[in-house]
Amino acid sequence: MGLGSTDADHHGSDAMTGTEAGGPKHVAIIMDGNGRWAQRRAKPRLYGHHAGARRVRQIVEACPGLGVSHLTIFAFSTENWKRTQTEVAGLMSLFRRYIERETQALNAAGVRVRFIGDRIRLDGKLVALMDHLEQVTADNDSLHLTVALNYGSRDEVARATQRLAYEVAAGRINPSGVNENTLAQFLDTHVLPDPDLVIRTSGEARISNFLLWQSAYAEYEFINTLWPDFTPEVFARVIDRFGARDRRFGGVTR
Ligand code: FPP
Repeated sequence: MGLGSTDADHHGSDAMTGTEAGGPKHVAIIMDGNGRWAQRRAKPRLYGHHAGARRVRQIVEACPGLGVSHLTIFAFSTENWKRTQTEVAGLMSLFRRYIERETQALNAAGVRVRFIGDRIRLDGKLVALMDHLEQVTADNDSLHLTVALNYGSRDEVARATQRLAYEVAAGRINPSGVNENTLAQFLDTHVLPDPDLVIRTSGEARISNFLLWQSAYAEYEFINTLWPDFTPEVFARVIDRFGARDRRFGGVTR
């Protein structure tokens, strides 16, 4: 695929993992470790976030060759507002510039982009760019890229519950018919399949309020690599390991 890369950039990841059946179709990633990566180089934290953004491009490019049709990435959580004003403003500016710069390449590569999370607290200019990117790429399907921005699972479930409650109050939904599927239809992710694999980089073994509902049966990989060092080769190895797992979804397979 495009995004300004050449074939030589793909480092033969097909040979390492291939697109064998049984690989994860939907991979979700908590991209952690940008700050430590920068700290180790005696640079400001935003330097690490910029390196992390460059890595996003490579991981997006690698997905189709690895058999991944859906990629969901955690860019900014509902808790990340607690960071310094400098870091938050720097990240917001990074997101704006990233969208401006990548819109054309993402579209040319056939990537469909969606955003999940609450847009209410985001700057109007950023929201306009997000809306535009979603519209421009709406007919693509080589990869479904979902960016979680001002996203938190509990917030998502609370917002979904509020919308469901309005529907019940208006008489359009009968409370006795409410089940898992009903609630799932009100989640930000309602059009997406559940993740098969959730990866967190940087050695932390936490979920941090990411896709709690959707990952009920996902496999988890906590890896030590810091996000800016998460190369397509590392990604390919993690995907390979997934193939060896026995997913039973609460049942018995043998
Ligand atoms: C976590 O590292 C990373 C973030 C909160 C921001 C993630 C953002 C990017 C990778 C930038 C690009 C994203 C897009 C979609 C263009 P951390 O700061 O918590 O690292 P630390 O734990 O080492 O401090």
